[in-house]
Amino acid sequence: NRSINLAVIAGDGIGPEVVAQAERVLNHVADLENITLTSTPYSLGAEHWLATGETLTQETKDQLATHDAILFGAVGADPRSATVPSGLIEREILLNLRFSFDHYINLRPSKLFPGAVSPLSNPGDIDFVVVREGTEGPYAGNGGLLRAGTPAEIATEVSLNTAYGIERLVRYAFELATCREKKKLTLIHKTNVLVNAGQLYSRIFNEVAAEYPQVTTDYLHIDAATIFFTTEPSRFDVIVTDNLFGDILTDQAGAITGGIGYAACGNINASGTFPSMFEPVHGSAPDIAGQGIANPTATVLAAAMLLRHLGFEGAAARVERAVEADLAANPGAQRSTEEVGSAIIAAL
Ligand code: NAD
Ligand code: IPM
Ligand code: MN
Repeated sequence: NRSINLAVIAGDGIGPEVVAQAERVLNHVADLENITLTSTPYSLGAEHWLATGETLTQETKDQLATHDAILFGAVGADPRSATVPSGLIEREILLNLRFSFDHYINLRPSKLFPGAVSPLSNPGDIDFVVVREGTEGPYAGNGGLLRAGTPAEIATEVSLNTAYGIERLVRYAFELATCREKKKLTLIHKTNVLVNAGQLYSRIFNEVAAEYPQVTTDYLHIDAATIFFTTEPSRFDVIVTDNLFGDILTDQAGAITGGIGYAACGNINASGTFPSMFEPVHGSAPDIAGQGIANPTATVLAAAMLLRHLGFEGAAARVERAVEADLAANPGAQRSTEEVGSAIIAAL
C-alpha cells in the first residue's frame, strides 16, 4: 500500500511557516516515489482557542486517530501576550496528544551534518539519538497547590514513573542500540537525588541490559551529561532518559549540532495502536515568527522520520540526503524559510 493519509497540525508562530516547507518536500518526494499522499489540515492552536475557546476536542482527537501519522509544527502563544494562559495550548494540545495517543517513545536524533556550524570549536563526530520517555515523569500532571493565595502556599509536581513505562522505553532503546554501529546505550538520570525513580530506572535498565550483551552500557547523572554534551558529544550513541531530562538535553543537542532549527522529533506509539506524530524539537519561536526566516530543516527531517516510520525507507533516505546535500552546498548561509525549502526540493 503506497499511500499516506496524513493529518497536519501547523499550529502557532513559526509552526505554519516551517510546516509549509515540509509539506512541499513531502509532496515532492511522494511524487518521485509514487506515494499517494493525502493531507488534512487541522487548525489548532492559540488562534483557534482565542476564536472558539477550544483547544482540542474529543471529536477532533477521534478524527486525528484515523490518520496514518500526524505532522505537527509548534504550538504556544507569544508569552508577551497576556491573553493566553501560559502553557495552556501546549498542555491541552501537544501533551494531550502525546498522552492520548500513548506516544511513549519521544525519539530525538542529533547529527552534525557537514556544512552545519556547531558553536563548539571542536565538536567531533556528533551522531546520537535521545530516546526520551514521552508519557510519564513530571509531565504526568500530578501535584497541585495547597493553601493557594496565602503566604503558606505550597506547590507540588509529582513525577510519575511506572515499571511498565520504563521497561517499554528501555527495551526500545536497547533494540535501537543493537541496530547501530557503536552499540552503546547511556542511561541519563539523577539517581543520586531522585532515588525512587532513579532506582526503578537503574534496576530495569540493568535487568534488560543482561538480555543485550552486545550493547555497551553507561550511566551519567544529568548534570554531568550536560558537561559531556559540550566537551565530548561524540562519546554518545543512544541515550535513554526520562521525560523532563530528555526535553532539556535535546534543546542542547540541537544547539551543538548547528541550531535548534535542525533538531527533529518523533512521538512514537511503537505498538501501532495510535498514529505517531512528527515535529521539530523547537517551539513556536514568537521572537522570529512572521519574518520568514525560521529554519524549516528540523520539520523536513521530522517528515523524513515520518516516512521511515510508515515504511517508506527509500523516500525517507532521499529527504535526508537532500538535507545533507543542501547543508553541504550552503554552509552557514543565512536564508529565508522558503529558500531552504526550495533548495532541499532542488536537491531531491
Ligand atoms: P522556541 O524553541 O520556540 O525558541 C527558542 C529560540 O530558538 C528562539 O530564539 C527562537 O527564535 C529559536 N528558534 C526556534 N526554532 C527555530 C527555527 N526553526 N529556526 C531558527 N530559530 C529558531 O522556544 P521558547 O521560546 O522557549 O518557546 C516559545 C513557545 O513555544 C512557548 O509557548 C513554548 O511553550 C512553545 N513550545 C512549543 C513546542 C511545541 O509545540 N512542540 C516546543 C517547544 C516550545
Ligand atoms: C518539546 C516542548 C514541550 C515539552 C512543551 C511545549 C510542552 O518543549 O516538545 O520539547 O516540554 O515536551
Ligand atoms: Mn522542549
